[in-house]
Amino acid sequence: MSDQRYSACIRWLHWTVAAGVAVQLALGWGSEALDGDAGMRLLRLHFQLGMVLLMLMLLRLACRIVRYLPDGLVSRRML
Ligand code: HEM
Repeated sequence: MSDQRYSACIRWLHWTVAAGVAVQLALGWGSEALDGDAGMRLLRLHFQLGMVLLMLMLLRLACRIVRYLPDGLVSRRML
């Protein structure tokens, strides 16, 4: 199979993880900047979102292994 674009699942995961990493930066810095309960709450969110992003990154890797790349890219598929 050939295509001009990355698969929808890979594009969706790419932008979701990109947005999540931006939110992680804000949560990490925010938790450092705020004292007490508010800081702890942001840090807890930071942990939770970090775990979700790790899962999404693993899913992204799995998609990359089994899906074809768009036309013109050197490697066609990893498996
Ligand atoms: C894309 C993923 C992540 C990004 C971009 C990110 C980013 C950051 C940033 C910018 C800070 C503030 C650092 C500072 O100003 O000193 C921070 C702090 C922290 N992050 Fe993350 N983080 C990520 C994932 C995680 C995960 C998965 C965990 C744990 C399971 C984690 C645990 C922590 C902890 C414990 C702190 C506080 C460190 C301290 O108190 O000095 N982070 N993170």
